[in-house]
Amino acid sequence: MKSYLTTLIAAFALLLLASVAFSFAETDSAEVDLSSAEAAAEETPFDKMMQVLTHKRCVNCHPSDDYPRQGEDSHVHNFGVERGPDNHGVAALRCESCHQAENNHLSGVPGAPEWSLAPKSMAWQGLSRVEIAKSMLNPENNGGRTLEETVHHLTEHELVLWAWEPGVDANGNPREKPPVSKEEYIKAVKEWAESGAVIPES
Ligand code: HEC
Ligand code: HEC
Repeated sequence: MKSYLTTLIAAFALLLLASVAFSFAETDSAEVDLSSAEAAAEETPFDKMMQVLTHKRCVNCHPSDDYPRQGEDSHVHNFGVERGPDNHGVAALRCESCHQAENNHLSGVPGAPEWSLAPKSMAWQGLSRVEIAKSMLNPENNGGRTLEETVHHLTEHELVLWAWEPGVDANGNPREKPPVSKEEYIKAVKEWAESGAVIPES
């Protein structure tokens, strides 16, 4: 009888232990799930800003060679358009002979004031987001801008803001906009700069 009781108690204790262990395991995995979901949802201002800067609407005009890119597949610009000595093209193929101050919805030629290619020192094509951010903050590459001037350019320049009014292409198809809204992007740029313009490691 005594041994039966001991066995029963032992069995109970085991059961209790197992259920405690199980519930611990459960909370642990639940916490892990929650925090990874939170991490995914919690994009930093830098994440948001760089989703825009790495988008084709920007990079098509910031190539690493002498040819502007076009379209969602960033193909080399039609008609043999080239950078030229002042980033505005060569001879008869000057940017401004086709690109006006506004989008042309009939011909599909995009437009904004002073349409031209970003100088080679500001080439972003093929760079990682960290490399782009470093180049953008480096006065040797960025046209001698201070952080304040860079923020001003990023949040107010017409060629930048064009990305959210990209118009239609030559086939009448709307060009894709950056994945972050203009308002959210501007807020992200300012938050990132105000908190020290830190560039993460990756
Ligand atoms: C039509 C071509 C064009 C488009 C589109 C364009 N840029 Fe530029 N970008 C330029 C030119 C030209 C300059 C040089 C302007 C200057 O130095 O005054 C420049 C310079 C810059 C600079 C300052 C230089 C640097 O490296 O810090 C930043 C920042 C920049 N662009 C960001 C963007 C972003 C962000 C987008 C997209 C949302 C964009 N650009 C889209 C042509 C373009
Ligand atoms: C002969 C006319 C012509 C000239 C010159 C020209 N372009 Fe274009 N460009 C166009 C047309 C047309 C499109 C629209 C093509 C399409 O998207 O289907 C275009 C599209 C673009 C785009 C694509 C935007 C995007 O994100 O899809 C960029 C960037 C561009 N041009 C830059 C330039 C630059 C910089 C110059 C001067 C160095 C220049 N272009 C000179 C006619 C021209």
